[in-house]
Amino acid sequence: LYERKPFITGNWKLNPNTKGEAIALAEDIASSVTSDSPGDVALFVPYPFIETVQNICGDKITVGAEMCTPEMKGAFTGGISPAMLASIGCKWVLAGHSERRTINKETDEYINAQCLKVIENDMSVMLCIGETLGEYEQNLAGPICELQLKKGLAGVSKEDMSSVAIAYEPVWAIGTGKVATPEIAQDVHEQIRATLKNMYGEDIGDSTKILYGGSVSPDSVDGLMAKPDIDGTLVGGASLSGESFGRIINFQ
Ligand code: G3P
Repeated sequence: LYERKPFITGNWKLNPNTKGEAIALAEDIASSVTSDSPGDVALFVPYPFIETVQNICGDKITVGAEMCTPEMKGAFTGGISPAMLASIGCKWVLAGHSERRTINKETDEYINAQCLKVIENDMSVMLCIGETLGEYEQNLAGPICELQLKKGLAGVSKEDMSSVAIAYEPVWAIGTGKVATPEIAQDVHEQIRATLKNMYGEDIGDSTKILYGGSVSPDSVDGLMAKPDIDGTLVGGASLSGESFGRIINFQ
């Protein structure tokens, strides 16, 4: 059986408002990480706070960015390239979050370019995938995830898969308080793992971490983490409180 070390991650999104608040929150969260914590911990934070949060968290928490532009240089006002992020010690980048897909109209092709560039710049990428409520109701979670995986990871080699994690975030569960039941999440995670095995072989399918995201809370984390194919969580709202996220970090 493959041992996949649990990976508990938080996505601060467009929060908090100020550097002062970011410092307080990071200190609070870092104090919850101890040698008894069951997994590795990462935080995806807004660009202006990356270095500050890194300094506070040291070895306890890995800090990542919430997205990047695949363009590497030049006339792209507002762009943040993977090379810039790597140069400040950023280790992870999220790609394809459903809010970026919907609000910022990021396409699978654009998300794929981000994944490739993040890996090329020696960072790891967490590719977010997931179906909408309508798709879920039509039993399309598996096929939608398969399509998003194939498009998002196009051109990513077997060797590079050690720099990839997948976050399954059903769109209907994000920020809605409607967490997928452990059984529903496990079912889709199993299908995602089967797709990865199909694409890259048994070993990569077994070793790639698949995280669940969507209204994860202190109340739901233990049940989710008990499932064999759920290797971690990507937490939004509950990562904005040291108390809640601390409880999630130290799930049982
Ligand atoms: O990326 C995490 C996310 O989309 C889930 O957000 O607030 O439902 O935990 P939330």
